[in-house]
Amino acid sequence: MTPKMKAAIINQYGRSGVLQVTDIDRPLAGPNDVLVKVVAASLNPRDWLTMRGLYQARKSLEPFPITLGSDFSGEIVQLGALVSSFAIGDQVFGMQPLRGKFGAFAEYVKINAAAIAAKPKGIDHECAAAMPCAGMTSYQTLHKIARVQPGETILVNGASGGVGVYAVQIAKAMGANVVAVCGPDNADLCRDLGANEVINYRAENFEDRTAAYDVVYDVIGRSSPKKSSKSLKPGGRYITTIPSVKTAMTAASSWLASKILPGKRKTSHLVLVKPEPADLSAMASMMLAGTLRSVIDSRHNLDNIEQAVERSQTWRARGKIIININ
Ligand SMILES: NC(=O)c1ccc[n+]([C@@H]2O[C@H](COP(=O)([O-])OP(=O)(O)OC[C@H]3O[C@@H](n4cnc5c(N)ncnc54)[C@H](OP(=O)(O)O)[C@@H]3O)[C@@H](O)[C@H]2O)c1
Repeated sequence: MTPKMKAAIINQYGRSGVLQVTDIDRPLAGPNDVLVKVVAASLNPRDWLTMRGLYQARKSLEPFPITLGSDFSGEIVQLGALVSSFAIGDQVFGMQPLRGKFGAFAEYVKINAAAIAAKPKGIDHECAAAMPCAGMTSYQTLHKIARVQPGETILVNGASGGVGVYAVQIAKAMGANVVAVCGPDNADLCRDLGANEVINYRAENFEDRTAAYDVVYDVIGRSSPKKSSKSLKPGGRYITTIPSVKTAMTAASSWLASKILPGKRKTSHLVLVKPEPADLSAMASMMLAGTLRSVIDSRHNLDNIEQAVERSQTWRARGKIIININ
């Protein structure tokens, strides 16, 4: 008989009342996978967007029941036949790719070995589980899309949330002058994370400044290339995290224009995070060196996961929401 495990699943889409914690079959690692005993997972808006059927990129991707959860940290308990990069007992962390099965809100998760990284002993499971999706989104935006240079001014809109707290610290570590946009209650947190200046979005609209920023990193997607254009310097980059037909088309036409008419044009971009073990390891090294930390909003477990989802849906999370599992 297949061994069972506890998991948070949905059998239909819905705003609430559809998430059930129940026993399901424990997955088996395929040839390129590992099976990880999850110690901690973290919640991302993509989890409840998937639950509500609002995540178009994932809709129809996997049949019901769907086990939610993309980010985790834990211990390898089974290796696929072709996996040689890890051993049983290794502590690892990572995230499921957007276009793949989720499954981290469970006692065990199956994942491709090429998507995970070793968790250093000096980083606890909660801090590691917090990092993958949110941290890599900011790491990949700032290093690979914005290509931030020392001395540049980077505005982070949504600086106190899951993605934003990593953005502030990574931009700071790259030598940028960081302007954080958050609500009044989170100004001290953003300064503590390294922001040089904090804008309270209830008192000032960052878009009203003229030629103030080299990069507008619109983590929360409340601005747009048009609205932030005046505030960007010549050659400035606007980057959104919000995937939609409109943001994808704007990014594609901006890319085309920059190829046809190179020069100090303002450009628009869309980040789509990908699991990259090298990026996870780079961030883990920053954590060990003391230049990056995870900020924990709240801790939950599988039995009260509904509260964690409700908390995230308020858009008030201060850093990351953790689900402790084993
Ligand atoms: N494209 C990708 O690959 C990718 C990857 C990861 C995430 N995302 C997306 O990125 C977005 C942010 O994710 P997240 O995990 O950071 O969300 P989150 O943690 O839930 O964001 C909560 C934060 O948003 C801030 N906020 C709310 N309204 C704001 C406003 N009007 N202006 C500025 N800040 C505001 C809040 O700050 P205050 O409480 O201070 O108001 C709170 O700290 C989500 O839509 C998510 O789906 C996309």
